[in-house]
Order: sequence, then structure tokens, then C-alpha cells
Amino acid sequence: MTIKDYNFSGKKAIVRVDFNVPMKEGVITDDTRIRGALPTLKHILDGGGALIIMSHMGKPKGKVKPELSLGQIKDAVAAALGVPEVKFAPDCAKAADAAAALKPGEVLMLENLRFYPEEEGKPVGVEKGTPEYEEAKKAMKESQKQFAKTLASYADCYVMDAFGTAHRKHASTAVIADYFDADNKMLGFLMEKEVQAVDNVLNNIKRPFVAVMGGSKVSSKIGIIENLLGKVDKLILCGGMTYTFAKAHGGNIGGSIVELDKLDVALNVEKLAKENGVELVLGEDSVCCTGYDFGTFQVKEGAKIDVFPSNAIPDEYEGLDAGPVSAAKFAKALEGAKTILWNGPAGCFECDDFCAGSRAVGDAIAKATAEGAFSLIGGGDSVACCTKFGLTDKVSYISTGGGALLEAIEGKVLPGVAAIKG
Ligand code: 3PG
Repeated sequence: MTIKDYNFSGKKAIVRVDFNVPMKEGVITDDTRIRGALPTLKHILDGGGALIIMSHMGKPKGKVKPELSLGQIKDAVAAALGVPEVKFAPDCAKAADAAAALKPGEVLMLENLRFYPEEEGKPVGVEKGTPEYEEAKKAMKESQKQFAKTLASYADCYVMDAFGTAHRKHASTAVIADYFDADNKMLGFLMEKEVQAVDNVLNNIKRPFVAVMGGSKVSSKIGIIENLLGKVDKLILCGGMTYTFAKAHGGNIGGSIVELDKLDVALNVEKLAKENGVELVLGEDSVCCTGYDFGTFQVKEGAKIDVFPSNAIPDEYEGLDAGPVSAAKFAKALEGAKTILWNGPAGCFECDDFCAGSRAVGDAIAKATAEGAFSLIGGGDSVACCTKFGLTDKVSYISTGGGALLEAIEGKVLPGVAAIKG
């Protein structure tokens, strides 16, 4: 079933969205994910349906954490939807009456699904690796099914539109689909758009294909890096990863972030790139600082900022951004690209002193896009870079997924998609 073909008139639809939006002092700081779900939610309301919206927020790990309550965003969701009210069910497992009372055009939002351990289906309070854990795991799987069944009982149909969480096999993202027949479960518009965007960079590649991978750790990106090496023409590696590569070659990286147990992984990436005929583009210089506060994104009073080769950073400095030579090298590597994937910034872009590298990458991607490239941006930080540099309308597609996007591009089948498509 597709969302376009389904007749929502007089039906109740339970929709899994990813409203795991960043918040500061109770205010949403980036509503990209809410806006992303609107076409689906409005389509259902316009079609005469009633909505039951469900999502997680943060990682409360099966416990009630008031600061992660979805109640705090319900008015923002109502405003975005253009409805007078979004009703709220503070107990996901006991929302049957509220759901039954819904009339066409009305909206009910359930509390953070992850306040219930059943959502993730992981046992709590039992040590992993013990026989008790295995028992608890079995019992939890049963409870998870029960929880999913309860959620399913609130509605006539299920719509999965939480791309950001589609890589999780949770009660609300996958298990729930077992309780609807094929005619009453479907992907939402956002899921369809995201899956199409991934398809463009996986199966519909126009060359040259250039990927930019940034962020702090090689370890968290290694799966996708290895996968991309079989697909891209050029791979730009930037951000904190730079220093693990520099260290692997015996460089001095001062106090820069490094994964000392991943030096061999870095060297292997270089070897794989050579074997695959991929041009690996690494930074050569870095903007470094003697005192940066990662909590406030500010340079500490009296701290020095200087540029050094990335493999000759004095002990008292740490590398925080790609230097001018690296930035120019990245921009050059993106020239003429026809397919682009960007995940992870080139530096601590939150601070204006260390955002030039990420800005150079973003500008070069915007330029290539204007010249006909398809550019896909994913991961919270790269998306925040696009917002900061005013590039959101200058790239082809901004994904709402972080981990989900990476897993999809690794070629993994997302459980949230498999649950609907089989
Ligand atoms: C995200 O922010 O990437 C999604 O909401 C998924 O969150 P999770 O990594 O906690 O599952």
C-alpha cells in the first residue's frame, strides 16, 4: 500500500515520526525533522483521517525523564500542522480511550516511546553476558510484542515516516507492522523521499562521485568508509579523523583528538583506497588552539590560535579545523563532482574561529550542485553547517537521518523499511 493510494477518510492512522529534535531550555533549536514529517501528517488530515503521532526523544533508556517529554513540543507540532490543538497521551500504553475518542481532523500525540523499555526491547537492570540476561532478553521480546500490539490497537492503519530511526528494530518502528495487514501499513512521504535520495547515491551514481566524511572518530565511520571505497571516485576525510591518519604516519599531533587503537584501521583505509583506485584526500594543515572549551564552543581567555601542518602540531595545541591549504584542497577535489555525499564537519564549526574548513566544503558542494551535481547531506552536524552557512537551499537533499542514513548508504536494509516492504 502507498500513502498516496490509501483512503484515510474516517480512519485513525498511527504514524511513527522522528521528532527527536534538538532542544535548548525547552525550545526546539532545529525543527527540520518536524517539517520533514508535515507532508505525511497533513495528507492524512486532509484526507479525512485522525492522527496518532508517536516518536522517541533522546535516550531515556526505559525510564521516565521529564526533560525528554514530548509534551513540551506538542504546541509547536500543532502550530506546524496548523491545527488548534494536539492532544497528549502521557501514557503510551494506556491511550486506548484517548485514541477511541479522536474525530477526523484531530491529532493525538503519545509520550516519548523510549520511556518504556519495551520500545527498544532491551532488558534493563540485568548484566549483559549473564544467563539471567538471556532469560530477561527472551521475556523482553515478548513484552515488546505486547507493547507493539497495544500501540497497533489504537489505529486502523500504520504509517512509518521516521527515517532517522528506521535503522532501529523497535516496537514502534518495526514490530508494530506485524499487527497490520499489508493493505493497512505503508511508508510515509518522508521515508519515500529519503529512500529515493539514498538510491541516487547508491544505485544511480553520476560520476565523478565525491564523498566527504568528517567528524571526530574513524571508528564510528569505518563501516561506511569501507563501503564507499567501492563506490566513490574521491573520498575526502576531514575533521578529527585527520589526526588518527597523521599519527599513523608518525606525525606530531599535539593534543588533537586521536584514536590510538585505530592507527592500523587508518592505514588500511589508505591501502583499500589505492586498491580501489580511489583518490583519498586528507587535510595537510590545521587551525590549532591552545585552549578550547568544547562545552561552550568558545576559545578560552588568552588561548592562542595558529595554523600548523597537521603532522607537526606543537604539544600545547590541538587541531580544531582544516587549515587554509586543506580547505582549498577539499574545494578543488569537489570541483566538477556530479554526485556528492557529505557527512560530518571538517572542524569545530560551532565556533566561528574553527568553521572555515566546513564552510569551504559546504560552499564547494553548493557550487557543484549549481553546476548540476546531486548532493546529499546527512547527519546532524553537517545539516547544522548548511543552516549556519545559509546553504540549505543550495544543496540537493538534506536528510533527516544520521545513523540511519549511514546504514542505508552502507547498503544495509533498514528494519523500518523491511517491516513494511517485507
Ligand atoms: C537520531 O537522532 O539519529 C535518531 O533520532 C535516532 O536516534 P538514536 O540514535 O538514539 O536511535
